[in-house]
Amino acid sequence: MIVRKSQSDLEKMRRAGLLVHEILHKLSAMVTEGVSTWDLEVAAERMVTEAGAKPAFKGYYVAAAGEKYKFVLCTSVNNEIVHGMPSQQRILKAGDIVSIDTGVSLDGFYADSAVTVPVGPIDAQTERLLKVTKDSLEMAIEKCREGNRLFDICGTVEQHVENNGFSIVREYVGHGIGSRLHEEPQIPNYVDPRNENPRLREGMVLAIEPMVNAGKPDVRVLKDRWTAVAKDGSNSAHFEHCVAVTANGPWVLTRP
Ligand code: MF3
Ligand code: CO
Repeated sequence: MIVRKSQSDLEKMRRAGLLVHEILHKLSAMVTEGVSTWDLEVAAERMVTEAGAKPAFKGYYVAAAGEKYKFVLCTSVNNEIVHGMPSQQRILKAGDIVSIDTGVSLDGFYADSAVTVPVGPIDAQTERLLKVTKDSLEMAIEKCREGNRLFDICGTVEQHVENNGFSIVREYVGHGIGSRLHEEPQIPNYVDPRNENPRLREGMVLAIEPMVNAGKPDVRVLKDRWTAVAKDGSNSAHFEHCVAVTANGPWVLTRP
């Protein structure tokens, strides 16, 4: 069942969304050569706490890992796709890319967003990877309208990415979001005709999160049981926004 949110629920989600935006905006500005992913984690935890919010990921149980996640952020560098863990040993260097993914709960509602940030100058192909992934999210956001269907979102991401010669990661998907971090429906970044294809309705809130590899789509999870990497070592990009379906069209809760 897909939970539809009231106007008052959406206003709470909006406040959570703006906090997530502010955190990612400030962390993005910190990203430079010599900064560790742990430095980002420390700054994020302080911002969440100061806002009177709770980190959504820290303490969240993930069955595939068999344990609770221990951090406020997922920081996934280069060929790491998602669920990279902040570490004092992981020092960013020029030419890297880092996906910063975080969520909070505020007043009973969640928001979740991710950006992939270049560390100094990056090569042209990686520049293109970031642009294509971000554009695929923007095009999917535009589909978040009453009367459209879930597959309009999934198919838009899939086609834009594949038309540009990159690969969709299939093992991880977007999700509904609200009073829980993960709600129905699952939102794959590709059309799987075996899935249901519900009509989009006012009040639905969708966390859309394309994960795109520059090379092959194949994924491997490291021995730490969390870090998902592109098997062929190619770079991977990830962008995410929470989008409400409203009478006035898509409302991106996680940006101003
Ligand atoms: N943004 C991811 C998601 O929506 C990260 C959550 S995994 C966690 O699923 F374990 F870190 F919580
Ligand atoms: Co998410």
